[in-house]
Parts: sequence; structure tokens; C-alpha cells
Amino acid sequence: MTPRRRLWRGVALATFADASSGGAGADAPYGLIAQGAVITEGANIVWVGRESELPAHAAVDEEYDGGGALLTPGLIDAHTHLVYGGDRATEFEQRLQGVSYEDIARAGGGIMSTVRATRSATESQLLEQATARATALLHEGVTTLEIKSGYGLSAEHERRSLTVARRIAETLPLTVRTTSLALHALPPEFAGRADDYVTESIAWLRAQHAEGLVDAVDAFCERIAFSPAQVARVFAVARELGLPVKLHAEQLSDSGGTQMAAEFAALSCDHLEYLSANGVQAMRRSGSVAVLLPGAYYMLRETQLPPIAALREAGVPMAIATDHNPGTSPTLSLQLMLNMACTLFRLTPEEAWRGVTVHAARALGLHDRGRLMPGLRADVALFDAAHPRDLAYRIGGTACRRVIIAGQEVAL
Ligand code: NIG
Ligand code: FE
Repeated sequence: MTPRRRLWRGVALATFADASSGGAGADAPYGLIAQGAVITEGANIVWVGRESELPAHAAVDEEYDGGGALLTPGLIDAHTHLVYGGDRATEFEQRLQGVSYEDIARAGGGIMSTVRATRSATESQLLEQATARATALLHEGVTTLEIKSGYGLSAEHERRSLTVARRIAETLPLTVRTTSLALHALPPEFAGRADDYVTESIAWLRAQHAEGLVDAVDAFCERIAFSPAQVARVFAVARELGLPVKLHAEQLSDSGGTQMAAEFAALSCDHLEYLSANGVQAMRRSGSVAVLLPGAYYMLRETQLPPIAALREAGVPMAIATDHNPGTSPTLSLQLMLNMACTLFRLTPEEAWRGVTVHAARALGLHDRGRLMPGLRADVALFDAAHPRDLAYRIGGTACRRVIIAGQEVAL
């Protein structure tokens, strides 16, 4: 049976095609086509262009008129910690009274307080809550989502978090990419024995990988977490298993994690407020994506900006993500992150948009999405907006009206 062909017409397209990739719209900012059309066949895009140039023979099974809506690639949230129990509102209050994030962590709060709440939640509670969070993102046009473990910190609880992350994609049509983040914090059972914890976590990683639970490996490289040498031990095993790596790097201080991650051809280094000039060059050489997380920057009332101009100058691709987590970024709005990336980090709206589409796909090692181009997945979102910059301009409220994943409309 031939897959169904669907035509979307009466839409403004932001294709994010560019000179290097080619494709329709490559000559305009955002890959814009003011009066565009898209044809999908089954799960894939087969035609993108001006409505006036639609092939005359384009026989389609279904036709939709977008009524002037903006059609973009489905958004990609390339960094989240979606599976956890509890919240950290009390800690938020403490921080507003002047206690620092690092002090709270050193006193056993912070990540560890979420670890306690996550361990004591049941698997079905974790699944229900994480699914609700993923649903909120989906309603904003997110069609691909990365989810990290890192609030279990034991063999059983890390495995459970990854299982829950996988199960989200059984009830929602989203693509979920899972990332193992056992090196997020040192659990109290291993106090004073961080190297032993690293050894243990390597055994967990092998088992998780054998069960097909892991798509990538991450770590928190920071003075309150793990050193570059400790992370490198886990990354070496990831390499042996054929798993790509990414890193929470230079968020609170310059630990040199980025240079270490570059040695492992990291898909991405994330946060990067304290990234040095050498770190930028290491990322340029390794081709890693800089995943910028304005929600965490904002929530921690950070004042040190990531070195945006240097990253831009070096041609390091920049992605934007929610970093959704209960401590430093309790946001479920990638659209709001577009705005914050512009206002706080001074990205252009086009850079921010590329950061939640084409560069976010690259940060996850996915080559089949992130642009509107024939051959790519038919993951698209329709917005009540005339131009993509309108979404970077708005603060709050979702403009997403329809979501199509693998060619199928999702009931919102
Ligand atoms: O990405 N920096 C480390 N991990 C998270 C925060 C985790 C937490 O505070 O619960 C982040 O900001
Ligand atoms: Fe994070």
C-alpha cells in the first residue's frame, strides 16, 4: 500500500534551509517562504516550496489549508531532566534569601533533595508526572525531546528513570532520546569515595546499554560534582559501547570539562557560562554543539554570560533548550526560552530558532529532522504567527495550533 500523501498549503514556511544544506528558502533568513506548501508522504517530507510552484501532477490523498499560519520544523528540546519526584520551591525561597546554589548542594540539598524525592516516588507516579511535563512541551510544538536520568543515583533508580523516559514515548507520539547521567551528584552512600562511585556507575551503564535504555551519556563536570578525569573514565566506556557523549560543562566555574569532552568528540557541551577561549576553540575543533540554557541562567540569577560572541565567531553551532529540572530551570516552555535566549543572551531570533530546530537536532546526533526538506521526517508545528520572530518576541502563552509527527496530526 502506498503511504498517504498529504498537502499543507496556505502556510508561511520557516524551512531553516541555508547555503550549506541547500533546499527551498535557503536564500532567505530563517529559510522563509511567505506563501509556501509542504507535501508529506507517510512519515516523511517529500516536497517543500512556494505554493505557486506546486507540481501540477501532485496527486495527494489529503489537503489542508493553513490559513496563513506559520509552519516550522517540530521543535527539539535537546536538554531536559524530566523524570523526577517532588519540587524545590523551598530551596528557591532560600536562594532568594541569599543562600547560594552551591551552598545548598554542599549541605545535602539541591540535586540530592530531588534524588530523595525521586527514589521514594513509585514508578507509576514518576511516569505520570513526567508524561504530563512532556505533554506540556508537545502542546508548544516540541516533537523531539531528550530526557536525562540523574535523580536516581543507584543502579535500580537510574534504570527506573531511564525506563520511565522510554515509556513516555509509548503513550505520546514524541521521539524521546534518553541520556544516562549517573555522574550528576555523589550520593551519600559513596561519601568520600567518588572514584568508587564512578566505577559502580560504569557497571550500571553497561547494563543499561545492554537493555537498550541509553542513547547518550552525560555528566556534571563541576567542583561540586565530578572532575574531568572522573568523567573521562565514563566517557571512555561510552566510546567503547558506541554511545555518544555530552557534558554539563563550565556552568558554575571553568573546570576544563569542555576540552576533555572535545577529546571524546562530544555531541554537545551544555550551559557554558564560564567557558574559556581555549574551551571555545576545543568545541570548534570537535564540532560539538553549544547548548545554551537561559532558564538555568535566569533562575540562578547568574550574571556571567556564556561567551556568545566567541562561539559565534568560531562558528560553533548554538542550540537552546529548557534544561527542565526542579532546581535550576522549572520551565516547560521552549517558546519562552526563545525569548530568553534573545533578551538574556543576545542571540538573534533567527539564531534562537535554529537553536531549537537544526542545531538541537545536531546536539542529539539526529540527522533526519530539524529542517523542512524533502527526505526528512514530517515532524512539523503550525503556529498562529506571521513570522518566526513573533514567537521569540512573545513572553508566555502558546501560539502552537497543530502538531504533526511522522506525518500524523497529533490531537492537542
Ligand atoms: O542542568 N547542573 C546540573 N544539573 C541541572 C540542575 C540539577 C538540579 O539542581 O536539580 C542543570 O542545571
Ligand atoms: Fe541540565
